[in-house]
Amino acid sequence: MNSNKLLTFKWFYDLSIRRKQLIALFISEVVSLVGLVGTGSILIIHGGRSILVNQAKSELAVTEINYNIKINQMGFGFRGQSDNLAIIAAAQKHSQSQTLSPELQQKVNKILQNEIKARKIEYATLVGRDLRIIANANRDRTGEIFNPKNLVTEVFRQPQQIKTSEIITWQELAKENPPLPLTVPGKESLIRYTVTPVKDPQTGQVIGALLSGDIVNQKPPIVSQTLDSQGGGYSAIYLQSSRGELQLATSAIETNHDNRSQKPENQKYLLNLPLPNTSLLTSAIAITTNNNIVTERISLQGQTYTVAAKKLVNHAGQPVVVLVRGTPETDLNILLRKSLSLQAASTVFTLIIDIVLAGILTTAITRPVRYLTQASQNFSQGNMTERAEVLYKDEIGELAKSFNQMAEQLSLRQQTSQQQMQQLQATLKELKETQIQLIQSEKMSSLGQMVAGIAHEINNPTSFIYGNLLHLTNYTDDILKLLQLYQQYYPETNPEIHQFIKEIDLDFLQQDLPKLIDSLQVGSDRIQDIVLSLRNFSRLDESAFKLADLHSGIDSTLMILNHRLKVQPHRCAIAVIKEYAELPLIECYPGQLNQVFMNILSNAIDALEEAMENNSIQPQIQIRTQQITSETITIHIIDNGLGMQETQLAKIFDPFFTTKPVGKGTGLGLFISYQIITEKHHGQLQCLSIPSKGTEFIMQIPITQKSPRSLGVCG
Ligand SMILES: Nc1ncnc2c1ncn2[C@@H]1O[C@H](COP(=O)(O)OP(=O)(O)O)[C@@H](O)[C@H]1O
Ligand SMILES: [Mg+2]
Repeated sequence: MNSNKLLTFKWFYDLSIRRKQLIALFISEVVSLVGLVGTGSILIIHGGRSILVNQAKSELAVTEINYNIKINQMGFGFRGQSDNLAIIAAAQKHSQSQTLSPELQQKVNKILQNEIKARKIEYATLVGRDLRIIANANRDRTGEIFNPKNLVTEVFRQPQQIKTSEIITWQELAKENPPLPLTVPGKESLIRYTVTPVKDPQTGQVIGALLSGDIVNQKPPIVSQTLDSQGGGYSAIYLQSSRGELQLATSAIETNHDNRSQKPENQKYLLNLPLPNTSLLTSAIAITTNNNIVTERISLQGQTYTVAAKKLVNHAGQPVVVLVRGTPETDLNILLRKSLSLQAASTVFTLIIDIVLAGILTTAITRPVRYLTQASQNFSQGNMTERAEVLYKDEIGELAKSFNQMAEQLSLRQQTSQQQMQQLQATLKELKETQIQLIQSEKMSSLGQMVAGIAHEINNPTSFIYGNLLHLTNYTDDILKLLQLYQQYYPETNPEIHQFIKEIDLDFLQQDLPKLIDSLQVGSDRIQDIVLSLRNFSRLDESAFKLADLHSGIDSTLMILNHRLKVQPHRCAIAVIKEYAELPLIECYPGQLNQVFMNILSNAIDALEEAMENNSIQPQIQIRTQQITSETITIHIIDNGLGMQETQLAKIFDPFFTTKPVGKGTGLGLFISYQIITEKHHGQLQCLSIPSKGTEFIMQIPITQKSPRSLGVCG
């Protein structure tokens, strides 16, 4: 369940902090805005509606007043006329059953006609106690019984003015034939009656009744006045016919709100527009609360109105009129629109603030986090100098500080471990070199010891031979002289001796023997030279510096290598050209330097031999010595052999670098030589080479060493 939830929101958690912030801020803002705008609108609509209902109710009260004003005015007017002497006279005459004089009749008629004209009403009738018409304003109906809704009887019974609304049939109205456009034949109309008692001024008795009747149907002013005074809207008057039908008596509605003032009077209002249904009217008829008002929202002409309705009763107490007032919701809508646009503006404003806030938050939180992330990424990719920028003093700032401290320590540790590693590597290298040197010098020393031993052993018999050669020469000379003396003084010999002399070719023997002894002399000289060279070369004196003649070291080496320099069956001899300068004795390890000469010279011979295999060259090794300063001498050993490529040249001093076949090359000769010259003698060893032209080794050796020890002399 919990993990499911986590999965649902994972996409959100995976978003960058900046996105999360923006989304959260935005949603919360939108929710609060929707809530605010929503409740605001609901409150405004709700409040507006109840205001509208109250407004419609109070406007309905005004409509009722407007409706009643006319009746009251009629009432006033006819009360005045009931005091008119001509009216009273006519009523008196009628009550005394006398016919009116034509003048009086005419006068009364005139009065009544003036009334209907002035008041724009339909009925003005004087009725006698016998309910017969004495005079009326329209068609002459004198003598007819006239007692609509028994109102006249009622006034006679109780002498008080009656003001009431009643329903009148079309037939009834037709009898009077008033000067107004009659309603549809057969239809009933709503009429407002006043019935005023006419009293005899002397007796105070009621002698007649003055009746006024005002038809409501087709009379727009009643409703348009309401619209005028209430600033538009809808106003209607309905009647309930005797059969209980609700019929529109008159109505007016403001057609266009906006340019009301510019319109001519007759187009200002749309007349006789009924309600879409009678539900409101029916409930108005049915209601029996104290104020008898019902309301409903009704759409008319595409606009919504809050409509209030109230019934009015006739004299008998039956509901005959329903007054209707519709208040347009336009104002509420305008209010709503205004408040909505205000809210929209504030929404936009809040959102802008929101975005600005998000920006500030981003700067305050996301940016440092981003920097820190970047820094740690760079650091983890090996950039040890990377540090996070501490922007603020908040938690992220603290984090950045700790990160920096950690990075500092890490890079320190890395540095030390790197140093240690380098030291270790250097030590390892040194160790390897020492090992190689040890092996080599061990080999050399045992070789040297052996060579020295052999030289020593050969030395004795050789000096034995060499020492006796002189005696041998003398003895041979003596014997040969003796032989000559014998031949001189005893020429006659016996045949046997003669035969033997012939056999051994005595003459030749006598000539050749001294030569033979000479060559023995040369041979033993040479053996002595070799022995000297061997002893010289194998000098085991590494423990101390000696003053040595380098030329004799080079010569000894050459002597040892002589067998390789000589003519060979498949090649000619290698010429050695010595260009020796005057050199002082050099402070050195002579044995070690001899080793160097040996290595370089034998390499030169190798290179020459290899070169000779393919090309016909005049093989030669040039050895040049020089004193270049008061402190330094140089030895150049130059061959015109194979030469080397640049890449090969770069590696020749590396241990175990060799281009020679296994068994022949070790790759150690030049490595050891380099160590001997540079480290043991503080000199320099250089090599120059041109492929297939030759190679030159240059040794530069100081004449004296910096810290001289007890020196011996050798040479
Ligand atoms: N005079 C030279 N001419 C050409 N190549 C040389 C010469 N001296 C040395 N070299 C090159 O240097 C390499 C290293 O020599 P060295 O250390 O004496 O080892 P090795 O002789 O056992 O091969 C040789 O294998 C050769 O390729
Ligand atoms: Mg070598």
